[in-house]
Amino acid sequence: MFGLPTASLSAYGYAKLIEPGWLEETQKTVSTGRGLRRPLRLAHISDFHASGLIPVSFLEQAFRRVLAMKPDLICLTGDFVTADNDFDPARYESALQLLSAKVPTFAVLGNHDGGIWAAREGWFANHKYIRNLVTRGGVQVLHNDSVKLEIDGMPLNLVGVGDWWSEELQARPAFEKVDYQSAPVIVMNHNPDGKDDCGLQPWDLMLCGHTHGGQVIIPFYGPPIVPIIDTRYAVGLNRYQSRWIHTTRGVGNIRGIRFNCRPELSMLLVS
Ligand SMILES: [Fe+2]
Repeated sequence: MFGLPTASLSAYGYAKLIEPGWLEETQKTVSTGRGLRRPLRLAHISDFHASGLIPVSFLEQAFRRVLAMKPDLICLTGDFVTADNDFDPARYESALQLLSAKVPTFAVLGNHDGGIWAAREGWFANHKYIRNLVTRGGVQVLHNDSVKLEIDGMPLNLVGVGDWWSEELQARPAFEKVDYQSAPVIVMNHNPDGKDDCGLQPWDLMLCGHTHGGQVIIPFYGPPIVPIIDTRYAVGLNRYQSRWIHTTRGVGNIRGIRFNCRPELSMLLVS
């Protein structure tokens, strides 16, 4: 007689109390066809959303687990915070230094990190504050910019674009220095809907966050809300033309709830 209400309450309790803190390490193989000498171990993590709901202590725990996965390179794809308060900037910088002190770590910013979208919510009007915080954490922010890396003797182009919702995605300057012929190209782009703005540029793999994988996945139905237009790229590794887009489920969340969509620490073996 009380079966359904009890089950609903248990599901809610699980979604509120258990799943948001239950990190899952995942591993996927991505073949770019670019002939890397050995698979590059790329840790892709995103959407930390430091806030009253996501303490920096939880992020520190996540970062330690990422380091234990032995990455060659760490890419952070935005939404470092949810709003403009409720996080300890000094502790956050130190947490990011856990990563950057050990492994080359790069980032792009998301819609929550400041700009016209965040300003509409009453938060950071531009991304200066978060960009500085992340930079002090030893992480190199690529905002419509790129770097040429060499990892274990393997050359690589890494590009980062501005956030699409913040209307800061500028593909042309971002790719200006890229030499596609000489090395594979990986691009960090917070929101997968920004992919078409980069469609004419040369790249092999795009790393995205933003969707949180849907955050709540109802069995036999799917996520009630996914904040993107092209939902084919809501989660996981998907083809785009002859290239790949990887959308990670993220580490934090908003509204403190996850169901059937655990926070994710993604390891990509890129060959
Ligand atoms: Fe997010």
